[in-house]
Amino acid sequence: MAERVVRVNASKSYDVIISKGSINKAGEYIKKVFPSLKNAVIVSDDNVFPLYGEAVKKTLNENEIRALEFVVPHGEKSKDITVLSQLLEFLAENKVDKKSVLLALGGGVIGDLTGFAASCYLRGIEFVQIPTTLLAAVDSSVGGKTAVNLKAGKNLAGAFWQPSLVICDPETFNTLSPSELANGISESVKYGIICDRQLYEDIETNGFTEIEKKIERCVSIKRDIVESDEFDKGKRKLLNLGHTFGHAIEKCSNFEIQHGAAVAIGMTAAAKVSEKLNLSEEKPHDRIKSLLEKLNLPTECPYSYEELYEAALSDKKVESDKISLILIRKIGDSFIYNVSIKELKDIFYIAFGG
Ligand code: NAD
Ligand code: GLY
Repeated sequence: MAERVVRVNASKSYDVIISKGSINKAGEYIKKVFPSLKNAVIVSDDNVFPLYGEAVKKTLNENEIRALEFVVPHGEKSKDITVLSQLLEFLAENKVDKKSVLLALGGGVIGDLTGFAASCYLRGIEFVQIPTTLLAAVDSSVGGKTAVNLKAGKNLAGAFWQPSLVICDPETFNTLSPSELANGISESVKYGIICDRQLYEDIETNGFTEIEKKIERCVSIKRDIVESDEFDKGKRKLLNLGHTFGHAIEKCSNFEIQHGAAVAIGMTAAAKVSEKLNLSEEKPHDRIKSLLEKLNLPTECPYSYEELYEAALSDKKVESDKISLILIRKIGDSFIYNVSIKELKDIFYIAFGG
């Protein structure tokens, strides 16, 4: 099978392997990175583990890696401090040591939870991402942001902790529902709007075809951004296009609206705000809205601008009374726009009021 490899050189250097069937060779890939590895812990959810757990265990076994399993309920509710604590206790009870490796087998929820556990268990152990959603493949499995949610908001407790390897098998996306697939396409459109007009226009013209090539492109864009700003001080904030609105929408919906869908609504809102504040060189709103709708993504939500604004105030990205919004100059060119908390209310009104 053709193999695409994107090398990431951040505080840790690692490969992102994109190849059909790679999940069945996970043990081999892992052994190349950790030649003397004996013990691993597969962290997964109750949708993914029944589908792919045995395949991963088999390839680990063939490579003489003993694997424990920790399976959580699927969905955003597992990105939680209690589940994190259960996972850490499980690792300790089973005497998992510094030389062991955690394997995140699942979507972004599993990746974020496992990565955070890896960052703090025994003050840090290695972990490998095996993304099984398109969203995790193009975004969350790469770049080392890990977190759980707190009652006050999304991703409020977390760490930067890079994986040691990412194994992405696009064949696992065959079992995703159309809406889960659309969630990943949403984050891919995001890269186009931020900095790659050609990618955007390719999706616009051809739909989300040539999936491996597109995953490689998205991962390469993310790699470039992460390498230049691993710790989110500047350019990396661009990856949050649509997220201030999106996280508020997720929170208001009690996580019924999923991340990728919420980001689609958020990007549409960012386009509207960019136009209304006369900050865009072209009028991107209608074009973005129409593409997202064509891709079966939502572009509107049922919450009032006041509800959304209140939810956004607990967002972790509020820094000394300022919040960094990402706005759109034109498709392929987005920028950071700092606003005060007070101005943010007006912006939520522009985006969702009236
Ligand atoms: P998810 O992990 O909840 O997966 C979505 C659903 O798909 C779940 O029900 C899961 O069980 C199911 N699933 C996963 N793989 C499957 C498969 N191959 N076949 C069938 N079902 C499968 O959600 P997600 O959309 O992958 O990720 C969203 C999360 O990622 C959010 O918490 C978001 O905040 C986070 N995120 C993190 C980053 C980062 O940089 N760390 C970036 C983007 C998003
Ligand atoms: N998905 C946002 C980031 O990785 O920075």
